[in-house]
Amino acid sequence: MTVYLNGQFMPISEARIPVLDRGFIFGDGVYEVIPVYSRRAFRLDEHLLRLQNSLDGIRLQNPYSDTEWARLITELITRNPGEDQYLYLHITRGVAKRDHAFPNPPSSPTVFMMSNPLTTPSAGLLQHGISAVTAQDNRWLRCDIKAISLLPNVLLRQLAVDAGCMETIMIRDNLFMTEGAASNIFVVKNSTLFAPPKDNFMLPGITYDVILELAAANGIPFGVRRIGKDEIFHADELLLTSSTREVLAITRVDGIQVGKGIPGPMFAQLHTLYQDFKRDVMRKA
Ligand code: PDD
Repeated sequence: MTVYLNGQFMPISEARIPVLDRGFIFGDGVYEVIPVYSRRAFRLDEHLLRLQNSLDGIRLQNPYSDTEWARLITELITRNPGEDQYLYLHITRGVAKRDHAFPNPPSSPTVFMMSNPLTTPSAGLLQHGISAVTAQDNRWLRCDIKAISLLPNVLLRQLAVDAGCMETIMIRDNLFMTEGAASNIFVVKNSTLFAPPKDNFMLPGITYDVILELAAANGIPFGVRRIGKDEIFHADELLLTSSTREVLAITRVDGIQVGKGIPGPMFAQLHTLYQDFKRDVMRKA
């Protein structure tokens, strides 16, 4: 696997960063995950815009222009095998003596990118859906920043794994649903799709936007509003979205069946629309 580190492409075995990198010491950095289909980055402009927002959120200057990012990303895709890839991009505040405050003068940021083969959900997962658990959302109040400091998400996701499930749905203040440990969550009730609002409590998912655009374009009734905790347990369907898992049905939560306990009609429709959209976009580009 060829990776990119601070201006150079190299085999991953040769990539090294100093131990005083603020990403390693403080988790002081941001990241992006971008799916690549037919060797083209999906929704690149949107991912780069979210990256800029994350960088603004941590007060770190963007090391490259969008044109430079696009060139580097294209080169990384070319240097790695596979038509479909999953690109990981990571920027930290760089290497500095350990002090919580920003280094002054600023150090140069560390920029790392790698690309792995993209494995979209298996036929079995699409057919049966996945199980999830719920847990209190104990993260900070800037969940809109795609920060590399993911310890809360790691611990929350592990709760799902410990219970033999695939995702943890988070509930803030015992009141409302925010998102999954590494995904956005939608609720379906009476044939209407409901999504939580893009605020500081959740990551504004790129896949989330695609799903809402597809709903709007295809006359699927939808609403964007706070989703109460109880609505999770009374939903007809629950859906999960992310760049790597696309769209999946959640068919059990905390051991309780969601709706009929099988992926429902809203999932089937959105999954088909998503696959068609992916193909159309990639053909046109
Ligand atoms: N995670 N919410 C959180 C907390 C996430 O980590 C992710 C994605 C999403 C979905 O965003 P998008 O549709 O843009 O992928 C929502 C990535 C895939 C990851 O950390 O690997």
